[in-house]
Amino acid sequence: MIKITNWAVIFFTALIFLDSSIAQTAMINVESRNLKSLNGNWNALIDPTGIGEWRQVWLEKTPEKKTDFFEYSFEGASELKVPGDFNSQKCELTFFEGTVWYKTQFDHALGNGKRLFLHFGGVNYIADVYLNGRKIGTHEGGFTPFQFEITDKIITGINTIVVKVDNHRLGNGLPGYGYDWLNYGGITRDVNLIETNKTYISDYFVQLKNGSLETILGWIQLDGIQSEQNIKVKIPELNISFQTRSDKNGYANIELTANLELWSPQIPKLYKIIIESETDTIDDNIGFRCVEVDGNKILLNKEPIFLKGANIHEENPYSGTRANSLEDVRILLNAAKEMGCNLVRLAHYPHNEYMVREAEKMGLMVWEELPIYQHIEFSDSLVPKKMDIMLKEMVHRDKNRCGVVIWSLSNETYSFTPMRDLELIKLTNNCRALDSTRLITHVINNQGYKKNTFNVWDTLYKYSDLIALNEYIGWYIPWQGNPSETKWDIVYPGKPVFISEFGGEALFGSKTGPTDEAANWTEVYQEDIYIKQVEMFGNVPNLIGVCPWLLFDYKSLGRMHPTYQNGYNRKGLLSEKGEKKKAWYIMKEYYKNK
Ligand code: GCU
Repeated sequence: MIKITNWAVIFFTALIFLDSSIAQTAMINVESRNLKSLNGNWNALIDPTGIGEWRQVWLEKTPEKKTDFFEYSFEGASELKVPGDFNSQKCELTFFEGTVWYKTQFDHALGNGKRLFLHFGGVNYIADVYLNGRKIGTHEGGFTPFQFEITDKIITGINTIVVKVDNHRLGNGLPGYGYDWLNYGGITRDVNLIETNKTYISDYFVQLKNGSLETILGWIQLDGIQSEQNIKVKIPELNISFQTRSDKNGYANIELTANLELWSPQIPKLYKIIIESETDTIDDNIGFRCVEVDGNKILLNKEPIFLKGANIHEENPYSGTRANSLEDVRILLNAAKEMGCNLVRLAHYPHNEYMVREAEKMGLMVWEELPIYQHIEFSDSLVPKKMDIMLKEMVHRDKNRCGVVIWSLSNETYSFTPMRDLELIKLTNNCRALDSTRLITHVINNQGYKKNTFNVWDTLYKYSDLIALNEYIGWYIPWQGNPSETKWDIVYPGKPVFISEFGGEALFGSKTGPTDEAANWTEVYQEDIYIKQVEMFGNVPNLIGVCPWLLFDYKSLGRMHPTYQNGYNRKGLLSEKGEKKKAWYIMKEYYKNK
């Protein structure tokens, strides 16, 4: 029998939990909605010890009595640009891991019968969000969007948002403690207020049915009380106006056939799609393509295709900042196009939405990846839940982007880590259930290399649509024979093989010693790695693509050699100033002839 007092405890605990809820799944296609941008300079309190939590800085208490004082204030605090990583904005934040409190204000007269949402494109790594002194929720994960409905929480006049951003590495984080990039912290992507009608189109999926070139399958989801509505899906260019009606859950299926110009790297055709309900209209630019595995080949629109990839991190090389704008992503994607790529691997986490949309427009296929990187605490009970949430958020945001052809669910995790196989097999199955229109893989680097023979094995390859492997022969591991005579023992020999990383380091213009010695970081040494790799590609069985690591030199704090690295991973084919290294020309020529 529960005593009254216990019920009260349960009630108030529930109240607190409900009040500081986990962020909602964000509505998609934000750019085409009724937005008010909150980008700009926000006030910021740097809080290395995390004492701001104890001081409850979100309350912004001010002295009432003469004897009152408070040891914080956003007034007079420094400013940080949003979107933007904080590491590159202030010297004292360069290597910072801790808490930064951000504050901004807005005035918004909410239209009659309207709803209001606060939407974040991405915050790395944990965001606790407060509105007018009350916590509205929290989100973990640095690379996927989230939102909070604030319809009933805003006040007339000035509203105040405070965001606690904590970019500490977590043992059970995604990624975990170790990674080979600068994991920029902060409110790194756009922040918007989004106003909608009482019932609005919150989600939809419009793509070709798996394996078909003319059947469009999908669905629409309304959010709001007026769930049963007439729905139209229009493709004006094709004179298509598909009509249906949503059910009591606000859900409607789409199925129609069309004579489509298919999306491809050569012709990245996108159609304007207009989705109309009785209370909302949204348009998107959607392409239609079919990607599938056929034996040891990858087919795009039923034709075999060779994936000419480039790895890119989400970093503007010239400014040394987290890439977060259209200008930033165009720098990276134009460089990929110039080298002759038809695919970019967005290492090692979902990049901002500009990157995915612009790649699609430019005819670059996209390999999107979760930050399940190297050492992950799979046996921590929270990790599978975090992996699943991040998977859902990644697929949710980009499921209508036909340019995304591969979901990569992990990179170089260790087969000996307890629960790794079990949890990643579960995650693979979850991904297949979410989306059957793309390939799914894991990137592995535990292959053996002895007597010039690769022994490629891993349980995860059984569940992956392709064999994706990282190898650094010629850099981390010296060649053991002629590259053209390498032998390959591959488990699941019938599957397509993709070399998802290869390469080595060079400092552009380095001439500090003999070019045949790795320790001089010369371009000639790096070029020789690429010449030999290209030679080896000629005899990799079922090779359907390669992806050099990587396009630009980029920041990574573990790369500490003061002369050659200076905090940069120098495996770029381009320096961080955009200077082409000799190896760049090897890849350019290889792709030209593929
Ligand atoms: C690994 C890893 C990359 C890393 C690279 C390197 O394969 O996937 O994230 O940067 O090797 O060592 O440079």
